[in-house]
Amino acid sequence: KVDEEKAAKQNAADASKLNIGMKFAVWWSLNVVFNIYNKKVLNVYPFPWLTSTLSLAAGSGIMLISWALKILKAPEVDFEFWRSLAPVALAHTIGHVAATISMSKVAVSFTHIIKSSEPAFSVIIQRIVFGDKFPYQVYLSLLPIIGGCALAAATELNFNMTGFTGAMISNIFFVFRNIFSKKGMSKSKKMGGMNYYACLSMMSLVFLTPFAIAVEGPRAWTAGWQAATLAHGDQVFWWVVAQSVFYHLYNQVSYMSLDKISPLTFSVGNTMKRVTVIVSSIIMFNTKVSPINAVGAAIAVFGTFLYSQCAQ
Ligand code: 3PG
Repeated sequence: KVDEEKAAKQNAADASKLNIGMKFAVWWSLNVVFNIYNKKVLNVYPFPWLTSTLSLAAGSGIMLISWALKILKAPEVDFEFWRSLAPVALAHTIGHVAATISMSKVAVSFTHIIKSSEPAFSVIIQRIVFGDKFPYQVYLSLLPIIGGCALAAATELNFNMTGFTGAMISNIFFVFRNIFSKKGMSKSKKMGGMNYYACLSMMSLVFLTPFAIAVEGPRAWTAGWQAATLAHGDQVFWWVVAQSVFYHLYNQVSYMSLDKISPLTFSVGNTMKRVTVIVSSIIMFNTKVSPINAVGAAIAVFGTFLYSQCAQ
């Protein structure tokens, strides 16, 4: 009987690992598609505030329709839920728009190399803001992460300060978003990652829309759209649809994973995702990379691997 119980437990653990593994694979694939279409759009229609808003709008629309048609069960939410979601949504909004601004200025690969240092930001913020302590090996593992990113930034052929700063700001705010999200999701256990992310999208959309109008505005959007479609045809519209829908889908799957794992495992999975994105975007956009730049990126990613080993 004891053996049977042990075997059942082992099977359940294996099934859950397989389930998380599959979610990771889907998350990374959706993310690659998002990054490619997002950059295709930004190359011909450089309005990152609008495209960030459209990504959130697409997700909100998809979820509202799914709830209305009863394809998915709508969550039961009260004022307290929305109040506690506000800081998460603020961090999500800033991190999202900052990453999109970054990608409108530099190669997708460069943004993601800088974003691969997110675990380092996670440690520093948890230490300084939340007073969490880590073993000294964890701090040591930050050296290759920070050093590798610095080397990659210093040798980036198309370095741009706004692109660099946007990726750094995104790192900081996504750390807060992940920590607050995990806390929020454990509080509202019944809700699940999918509906939690849906509510997050909606609130972020409300936060971002007025700023997008103030910073870019309908007049610039219309003029830019005419120029983009004149030069590249109606396909630009479908690129925008693809980047918006895939943004929602990859985030939704990532939240369904975060629901089941620790923020640490999540941020390591996220860094590994960036390797996939960096390699595929370099191939897709024929990005010129100097050998020393590639070495910097590799050191940064290896640092994250070391970090994951020390932080267990
Ligand atoms: C965004 O627009 O939010 C970023 O591209 C997201 O980056 P990440 O989800 O890969 O951290």
